[in-house]
Amino acid sequence: MGIELKKIGVIGAGQMGSGIAHVCAVAGFDVVLSDISKDKIESGLASINGNLVRQVQKEQITEAERDAALARISAAGDLDMLSDADLVIESAVENEQIKRKIYSQLCPLLKPEAILATNTSSISITRLAASTDRPERFIGIHFMNPVPIMELVELVRGIATEDETYEAAKGFVNRIGKKMAVAEDFPAFMVNRILLPMINEAIYTLYEGVGSVESIDTAMKLGANHPMGPLQLADFIGLDTCLSIMQVLYEGLADSKYRPCPLLVKYVEAGWLGRKTQRGFYDYRGDVPVPTR
Ligand SMILES: NC(=O)c1ccc[n+]([C@@H]2O[C@H](COP(=O)([O-])OP(=O)(O)OC[C@H]3O[C@@H](n4cnc5c(N)ncnc54)[C@H](O)[C@@H]3O)[C@@H](O)[C@H]2O)c1
Repeated sequence: MGIELKKIGVIGAGQMGSGIAHVCAVAGFDVVLSDISKDKIESGLASINGNLVRQVQKEQITEAERDAALARISAAGDLDMLSDADLVIESAVENEQIKRKIYSQLCPLLKPEAILATNTSSISITRLAASTDRPERFIGIHFMNPVPIMELVELVRGIATEDETYEAAKGFVNRIGKKMAVAEDFPAFMVNRILLPMINEAIYTLYEGVGSVESIDTAMKLGANHPMGPLQLADFIGLDTCLSIMQVLYEGLADSKYRPCPLLVKYVEAGWLGRKTQRGFYDYRGDVPVPTR
């Protein structure tokens, strides 16, 4: 017998968490969206609303479906409101200590049968699972950005993940209309194991003065047929997230080829995190993004 999922909790209302709440609500799940910051919950709900409006304009969903989806999402100031969730998807910042702290506060509140999933981009599912009271009911459900648009979800089992949990996660991914690729639990799984070293190399290419922001992005768009340049993509992902993933690869695989570019480190130290802070390799404060180097 499979597990029936009705209510989904989402922790972290940033760009990914709000996207996850959006697709869950459109698929008919009741959703509770929580974040440590009330402002982030508000901006997350505003971006869900804006994206739903866009879907109505593109005739992907009707007005009535938009209203119903919005009505299914409630905001949670604290984790108590997640206590009756069947599945909780943690999508807080890419920081292992923060994720562990969230689980230690959350797990005692959850139903014993509730499944806990993480949207981590790179951190070991087995290690995160081991820090909870339910490693057998813990799994990686790794969404792509922007969630309402990107088709893929990577599913990552930890060593202790039970078949029942895996089957429930597969059923969930089908229900929200995404395709899945199953990855083994290695640092950064598949997509980011391949993508992030390329982005890091693009930042080295900039750092070493081989090309400007614009020329590097143009080179990869027109020369390798990528839909967006690697520096544009880095800004889109968030430079803090890019750095965290490179650090996980560097430490987890103990290979110098994954060394984060010092320029990436410097940007993160400056708080230039890409689109979400209006500045990264491009400046987003005007009508069109302006390259900064
Ligand atoms: N950005 C991407 O392209 C991408 C893609 C796939 C997966 N991810 C993963 O998704 C997760 C979130 O990334 P994002 O891009 O949405 O980041 P983000 O910076 O947009 O959002 C992170 C959110 O976590 C919240 N947060 C921080 N500490 C918290 C806590 N203790 N409790 C609750 N909320 C807390 C922050 O307030 C913020 O709203 C990360 O694990 C990241 O690796 C990111």
